[in-house]
Amino acid sequence: MDRYYVLGNPIAHSRSPRIHSAFAAALGQELSYEARLVPLEGFAREIELLKQEGFRGCNVTVPFKEQAFRAADRLSDRASLAGAVNTLSYDGGILSGDNTDGEGLARDLACLGVPLEGRSVLLLGAGGAARGIVASLLQGHPRRLHIANRTVSRAGALADLARSSPMAGSCDVSSSGFEEAEGDFDLIINATSASLSGEIPPFPGSLLHEGVFAYDLMYAPEDTPFVARARSLGAGAADGLGMLVEQAAESFRIWRGVRPDTADLKDRLRQEMRRG
Ligand code: ATR
Repeated sequence: MDRYYVLGNPIAHSRSPRIHSAFAAALGQELSYEARLVPLEGFAREIELLKQEGFRGCNVTVPFKEQAFRAADRLSDRASLAGAVNTLSYDGGILSGDNTDGEGLARDLACLGVPLEGRSVLLLGAGGAARGIVASLLQGHPRRLHIANRTVSRAGALADLARSSPMAGSCDVSSSGFEEAEGDFDLIINATSASLSGEIPPFPGSLLHEGVFAYDLMYAPEDTPFVARARSLGAGAADGLGMLVEQAAESFRIWRGVRPDTADLKDRLRQEMRRG
């Protein structure tokens, strides 16, 4: 049986085994998918063990995505721009690295009826999560991408990287601190980890109003602070549960050559999460 894993530390609360088992069952595919807790200093060794075992692939989560990037023999363009890998495939002795986070976001936005083409996008945050989605945002051909971050120099560095990428096209890419973000944005994406401490990045509240869509990469049983603020100001909003399912579907497609349906599973996971 083909074996797949999700590697991380911590890993106990990962929903990936649940999601991939549901995909496999729905498509009648026989495979195993398990979570593995990897010691913080043990990622390279774990990969060697898995290669010896003849595994077919794995997802990689916090804090190993950069190490997975370095471990890969080959990288997709989107993984190269992300500087991080969340999907490894092992075939013919070659370890290939990809990053499906951005595709997951783009697909979830499409499901939500939120277009990117010709739109003006504000990306809050410039850490690993933000870097992971920039390629896919640019591939959606927005008119403008403004990156705002607490540490302004990091926003500038990510904007430079975006501008010099082959996906940039004619997109107007700019950067600033949160307070200085200005413009008429159609979509505001929270890629900061501020929600973890119950905070909202201090961007101007006037940017959120009816007609704007707010997307939080984080997800939780109840509305995240960012989602709650957006809704209270009349904006549309969603958290990152849909992206989680969509990035998993893209990993599944890379490994198995077939894309699972995601709509039902998103609904079921939402209900399960609310039940606790
Ligand atoms: P991740 O991989 O989750 O992106 P990261 O690389 O540490 O983690 O990046 C975290 C992001 O959230 C950064 O943009 C960080 O801002 P800095 O670059 O200034 O550190 C941002 N962040 C974290 N806590 C925040 C908070 N309380 N308010 C606003 N931004 C925050």
